[in-house]
Amino acid sequence: MATSSAPVREPVTGTATAPRVRRPFLLDLYATAVGKKYAMAISGIALMGFVLFHMIGNLKMYFGAADLNEYAEFLKKLLYPLAPKESVLWILRLGLIGMLVLHLHAAWSLTMLNRRARPVRYQSARDYQEASLASRSMRLSGIVVLAFIVWHLLDLTFGVVNTVGADGEFVRAEVYANVVRSFERWPVALFYVVANLLLGLHLSHGVWSIFQSLGWNNPRFNAWRTAFARGFAAVVVIGNVSFPIAVTLGIVSV
Ligand code: HEM
Repeated sequence: MATSSAPVREPVTGTATAPRVRRPFLLDLYATAVGKKYAMAISGIALMGFVLFHMIGNLKMYFGAADLNEYAEFLKKLLYPLAPKESVLWILRLGLIGMLVLHLHAAWSLTMLNRRARPVRYQSARDYQEASLASRSMRLSGIVVLAFIVWHLLDLTFGVVNTVGADGEFVRAEVYANVVRSFERWPVALFYVVANLLLGLHLSHGVWSIFQSLGWNNPRFNAWRTAFARGFAAVVVIGNVSFPIAVTLGIVSV
């Protein structure tokens, strides 16, 4: 009887880049391109939730200072007095920071994997017939949104780059006045509009990609994926750009 001398194949691990060391399952999965795409998608869903609810919460601005300031106070008092003041808010903030770091790390390491897979750049001009403007500008729009978040926190959370109130001081609890004073400076209002338009571009491709990364790909609902992604981006962008525009036009004022 002839014995087979065919080489024994190693088990398939997902991609050629997966290291052989035994690690916890999730770390092992994250070492693969598929795992990084899952991480991008799951953190993307969490960040989508934040931008949508942040925009909806900010609509309180149209009901006046008392409503917006009370809403900010409500967030600090979530589950109070059962839990200490601001504790739930801090848990949510830490979750949000974790999701943002994961999103950025996965994006960066997927870029590195792609570069390693194609160390030589394309010799001729790329044929972009299939790739939309949004998909080609994901890195640029992502970097601008990140820079926007840094400015935004310095502006409305820490007050470092905000114009100060009547008494010469930035008062954290006066959320409505802080927003109005910030947007009364037209270059700042313009920056908020531009950054939010780029956020919209990022979302319209990013939300569509989530379906792709999670394998929710079926000809029966593929047309809906694009519609959902564009609709979601439009709702967030229209809400967000309305705030600096309303202050510039004097519709919202102190
Ligand atoms: C024009 C649109 C926006 C307005 C008017 C706005 C308004 C505000 C205000 C007033 C605060 C401070 C809240 C407080 O101190 O209680 C804040 C915090 C924050 N905003 Fe925005 N925001 C806008 C868009 C965005 C966008 C697009 C993002 C993310 C991409 C974002 C991310 C954040 C984050 C991470 C915080 C800190 C939250 C915290 O400390 O709990 N904002 N925003």
